[in-house]
Amino acid sequence: MSNLIKISPSILSADFSKLGSEVISLERAGADYIHIDVMDGHFVPNLTIGPEVIKKLRPLTKKIFDVHLMISPVDNFIKDFANAGADIITFHPEATSDTLKTISLIRKENKKVGISLKPNSKIQLIEKYLNEIDLVLIMSVEPGFAGQKFMPEVLEKTKTLKEIIKRENLNIDIEIDGGINFENCSLAKKAGANILVSGSTIFKENKGDLKKNIELLRTN
Ligand code: DX5
Ligand code: ZN
Repeated sequence: MSNLIKISPSILSADFSKLGSEVISLERAGADYIHIDVMDGHFVPNLTIGPEVIKKLRPLTKKIFDVHLMISPVDNFIKDFANAGADIITFHPEATSDTLKTISLIRKENKKVGISLKPNSKIQLIEKYLNEIDLVLIMSVEPGFAGQKFMPEVLEKTKTLKEIIKRENLNIDIEIDGGINFENCSLAKKAGANILVSGSTIFKENKGDLKKNIELLRTN
């Protein structure tokens, strides 16, 4: 894990009628990763995009595709998302009956493994898998929609996780997702997050000035 802050804009807040050019604009604006929220209308009460869309976006950029799967059951789709061009595949432990198996399915595809914790999901749920994964995605809103309010209570969990990672000398990124803005981004960093996801702030603040918004989230 590096100490440099990475910004992973969520295309959930992009204009879906021109997703390709939005991704290119994000790359030009200095995004580190592209965060892709995949929802199934079952694990979360919203529907977004699937592997076919990701496959079409893949040739447009070399940026890391940070794919956040909010689908259940998740196992049957891992291969499709890997083939579509995902670089990091993050799943929720509640979306599988066998977390280790899901981890190994992602590893078999040579992709980075992320596990996501919803606001009320405890670290204990994933502690025994920390040796096997590359990233923990802490949700700071209930998964499902962009534009929700940041839940400051997850900062404590972020701090605790960071302490465990340090203590055990693990190589794991901490990503935070949901309601990140120019004020709370510094709290998230201080708590230990090194990758910030943002949809609304990046696409809507400062009249949609992507470059400025990415830079502000990075430096604030
Ligand atoms: C919510 C998604 C988030 C969301 C972020 O389920 O996982 O990635 O789109 O959007 P904002 O930054 O608007 O909360
Ligand atoms: Zn997300």
